[in-house]
Amino acid sequence: MAQTPDWMTAIDPDATGGPELLVPVRRPVPVPGPAQVLLRVAAAGVNRPDIAQRIGNYPPPPGAPSIPGLEVAGEVVGIGDGVMPEYLGQPMCALLGGGGYAEYAVADIGLCLPVPECLSMAEAAALPETLFTVWSNVFERAYAADGDYLLVHGGTSGIGTMAIALGKLFGVIVIVTAGSDEKCTAALGLGAAHAINYRTADFVAEVKAITGARGVDVVLDMVGGDYLPRNIDCMAEDGRHVSIAIMRGAKAEIPIWKIMQKRLTLTGSTLRSRDLAFKSLVADEISSAVWPHIEAGALRPAMDRSFALADAADAHRRMESGEHVGKIVLTMGA
Ligand SMILES: NC(=O)c1ccc[n+]([C@@H]2O[C@H](COP(=O)([O-])OP(=O)(O)OC[C@H]3O[C@@H](n4cnc5c(N)ncnc54)[C@H](OP(=O)(O)O)[C@@H]3O)[C@@H](O)[C@H]2O)c1
Repeated sequence: MAQTPDWMTAIDPDATGGPELLVPVRRPVPVPGPAQVLLRVAAAGVNRPDIAQRIGNYPPPPGAPSIPGLEVAGEVVGIGDGVMPEYLGQPMCALLGGGGYAEYAVADIGLCLPVPECLSMAEAAALPETLFTVWSNVFERAYAADGDYLLVHGGTSGIGTMAIALGKLFGVIVIVTAGSDEKCTAALGLGAAHAINYRTADFVAEVKAITGARGVDVVLDMVGGDYLPRNIDCMAEDGRHVSIAIMRGAKAEIPIWKIMQKRLTLTGSTLRSRDLAFKSLVADEISSAVWPHIEAGALRPAMDRSFALADAADAHRRMESGEHVGKIVLTMGA
């Protein structure tokens, strides 16, 4: 195995603002602590929270690297205390608290999963953030089950495409909304049962028509604001509503009577701030419940485009354009 250098190229802006801040800089290669590994990063996933961090709305939690990037795939080239040497040389993907936009990244071994042979490094890097988020919110927090209806806004987002893939795998009937007919067609192609263009149709009326007025069992909501009361109108009795972002506003007017009438549960979560113990539990569950399907080729991430690390600014511009379908990744080159 080649010797690990002391310095690496990374994206680590020292100010908040526009994508032009995402320029390559030199940073020390991080050192793995106990129960951690050092990965030579082959690819890093780009997520909307990276944009919020760049703008200054989502600072890294205490102890997390300032380098953005919540997921990577690469080869294990270093191990900390307590990690078995067998991991050295293994291709792994990992959920990170930060640090992915770099040639090397430190990951907790409990948050690493082996890269299946059927996936490229770019595909593997595109999995952890959305897989952990959708699994923990839709299947644990909202206990979606076979035959349930799930409504997901942003159906062609990284999160939305993962919700479609997981829903399809576990017999959940996924209804998505998206902002164009092209995106709706893409979502249907990925396995959504129904796709509603929210710019040309009222999604509440459409959901009622699709479900025969019954409503959906689960809503995965990244929109917030004025979508909350409309989501509630879409819900079946005993439905579960999970908030994961607030793109249209952090405040909402909630019709309490409808919560009582339909016995609804309103909940939500943020993944990045959760402790290692929680995330490790999610990793264990994904390892047993989902990873075998990924290894069998039954679940793949929907991929949009790859950009070189040096072109991270263009990757953010693409995400902010809203034109992407699925995941954007950065690749580190040879
Ligand atoms: N809570 C958590 O733990 C957690 C974890 C990861 C991500 N997230 C959040 O989940 C969201 C999706 O993340 P991602 O990485 O998948 O992002 P992404 O791929 O950039 O997707 C964002 C989606 O939001 C839709 N959208 C944007 N503005 C909208 C608006 N005003 N009204 C309705 N839809 C709108 C866009 O679709 P259309 O063009 O079709 O509108 C787009 O598909 C982000 O807000 C992110 O912060 C939360």
